[in-house]
Amino acid sequence: MTGATLDRRLVLEMVHVCEAAALAASKLVGFGDEKAADAAAVEAMRTAFNRVPISGTVVIGEGERDEAPMLYIGEEVGAGGDAVDIALDPLEGTTICAKAMPGSLAVLALAPKGGLLNAPDVYMDKIAVGPGLPDGVVDLDNSAGDNVRALAKATGKAVEDIRVCVLDRSRHSALIADLRAAGCGVVLIGDGDVAGVIATTDATTGIDMYMGSGGAPEGVLAAAALRCIGGQMQGRLLFRNDDERARARKWGVEDLNRKYSLTDLASGDVIFAATGVTTGGLLRGVGRVPRGWTTETLVMHAADQMVRRITGEHISR
Ligand code: FBP
Repeated sequence: MTGATLDRRLVLEMVHVCEAAALAASKLVGFGDEKAADAAAVEAMRTAFNRVPISGTVVIGEGERDEAPMLYIGEEVGAGGDAVDIALDPLEGTTICAKAMPGSLAVLALAPKGGLLNAPDVYMDKIAVGPGLPDGVVDLDNSAGDNVRALAKATGKAVEDIRVCVLDRSRHSALIADLRAAGCGVVLIGDGDVAGVIATTDATTGIDMYMGSGGAPEGVLAAAALRCIGGQMQGRLLFRNDDERARARKWGVEDLNRKYSLTDLASGDVIFAATGVTTGGLLRGVGRVPRGWTTETLVMHAADQMVRRITGEHISR
């Protein structure tokens, strides 16, 4: 590592780690067993880390040490090397994988030590837009309608041409009603808000903004992606009970009401990688070919301003 810049050779290593998790999970697509699919992805990702030349610490992972046998928060991974922090979700969208529905991923982000928010596993209220817009064009503290109108003005689109991606949850019924009342379209997704946030960075998706609450760990992963590809994001932790508040304090969160900026969520240099398990808007899923299996991985490196899609052919022996 030069200063706080990640070695670019780690980019390909992260592709390999995500591919391994996606390939393992793909064997369980459609079997209705979320736990088994997740466990297969976790084990494969954990094993793949063994050969990576880093001294890595999992800061966002599969839960606390007593809840998860592998890739728990605080676990040290890698073969030794530069000290890095890792946020990971070996199977983002366990339900969609188990049901063979679109858009499950293996995903991770890597940063020099201290670069990723140690977010507790609680909900986070999120708002995100893609690159090329004025700073602060939307804000978590503004109403849904004000955000839509500000975005329409900044993009030169009519409000009715704005599309906002929201997780399809009953807790979002007021948000969805407010967005529709403002006059824009709402794109509801069943799961997978990392991909939902990234969709705002790609004009071909038609999605202009992401809004609503989802996992805080997924918020950090999505922020890492935007740090590489461009865009704006804010997040605020949401707590359902005192237990969750206590957990957040344990992870060092002092201001429980803090509005996190993109760089509060992921600062400094970042590598982000995601491999498709089932095909979705962001990535093709694992596919069968006569010689073995194919994968598609999106990988990005902030310092290099590099975004690549890498297809792999994994030959069965
Ligand atoms: P899993 O990978 O844990 O299944 O998460 C899928 C997901 O849709 C995330 O993308 C999102 O952040 C979170 O679940 C939302 O949580 P909930 O399903 O409780 O609304």
